[in-house]
Amino acid sequence: MAGSSFGTIFRVTTFGESHGPALGCIVDGCPAGLPLSEEDLRPMMARRRPGQGALSTPRKEADEARILSGVFEGKTTGTPICILIENTNARSGDYDHLREVYRPGHADYCFATKYGLRDHRGGGRSSGRETAARVAAGAVAQVLLKRLGIRCAARLSAVGNIAIPAETTAESATATDAAVENAGSLPVTTAEGSAASAEAAVAALLANCRKEGDSIGSTVTLSVTGLPVGLGDPVFEKLDANLAKAMFSIGAVKGLDIGEGRRAALLYGSENNDAFVLENGQVKKATNHSGGILGGMSDGDELSLKVYFKPTPSISRAQRTVTTGGKETELSIHGRHDPVIGARAAVVVEAMAALVLADALLLGMGAKLENLEKIYRE
Ligand SMILES: Cc1cc2nc3c(=O)[nH]c(=O)nc-3n(C[C@H](O)[C@H](O)[C@H](O)COP(=O)(O)O)c2cc1C
Repeated sequence: MAGSSFGTIFRVTTFGESHGPALGCIVDGCPAGLPLSEEDLRPMMARRRPGQGALSTPRKEADEARILSGVFEGKTTGTPICILIENTNARSGDYDHLREVYRPGHADYCFATKYGLRDHRGGGRSSGRETAARVAAGAVAQVLLKRLGIRCAARLSAVGNIAIPAETTAESATATDAAVENAGSLPVTTAEGSAASAEAAVAALLANCRKEGDSIGSTVTLSVTGLPVGLGDPVFEKLDANLAKAMFSIGAVKGLDIGEGRRAALLYGSENNDAFVLENGQVKKATNHSGGILGGMSDGDELSLKVYFKPTPSISRAQRTVTTGGKETELSIHGRHDPVIGARAAVVVEAMAALVLADALLLGMGAKLENLEKIYRE
């Protein structure tokens, strides 16, 4: 099966299935000399970990990411970094009834038709669990980005049509470390009537979903600050094109806006253009409708993205489907599932963005002769 690798210089391959012994990744192309330890991976792994609160599947996994190679005495060696995450709480028996049936909204039918067989346990390779490996790889990329003063933070910003205020998260111009740590979780203590009321509305919505055996869609907002001008290339390696590929490679992602995004189709040019101005002799934009990308290259402004997730496809409400043997049947799915995918996927969005940006930084080094001269002659 092709397609398990991502990136050109900062290149990641993920491996493993939801109910195999382990999953993980190999990160190739990370520069030597970057201070890196398992401790650096822990905060992001914890944000994706299942079994936390009402917005997450009850499957309990420690999600300890072990670094097996590529680090010596606390620094990367420039060799492939292999990271392993063991599956410790897979209850494969829960999936026996799905062996001979295609789940609506899942990869099952297409996978079985294409490859001729399928690991039905927890979605196999197509499971959201695969994203644990991406988050580990993205955490390495984040360490590199932080080193260069780039801050990348994503958070759950809506459940269904209920908007969740930014509060401590990164929709403001500067993403702080606290924002990075809080991103992805639903804010609980907030100013009067803001996130607290959003939380109550989300709780009521979820209670209703549970009662109806249903699920609901969600939105994740990503903000990146501290980017230099010029990441990405103007044709096939546009930064927005690569971000779009990265985001759409995450299961259940159905849409994406960068800056004004699709809304730009409703605007006049005079409304959508960002005027250039001089601030202390430096070129800046007066507004940021572009979302931080012009002509496929970062424009030095905040990179701002919205990623839209469909409702969790596994629902307990009865659905019509077909068996692998070609008979119509009804299916109710009572396993352990995320009621709202965006809650745990926010950190996956952040990880994928970090991978794209780390790769773009390394690719951009060869953009000008003087860059090469700096590296090889000085
Ligand atoms: C972090 C994450 C967790 C997910 N958890 C679940 C889940 O618990 N139950 C489920 O049915 N789908 C879950 N999904 C979504 C499915 O993996 C996805 O919808 C399915 O593979 C079909 O792919 P598609 O929606 O991209 O077409 C999750 C996705 C992600 C990114």
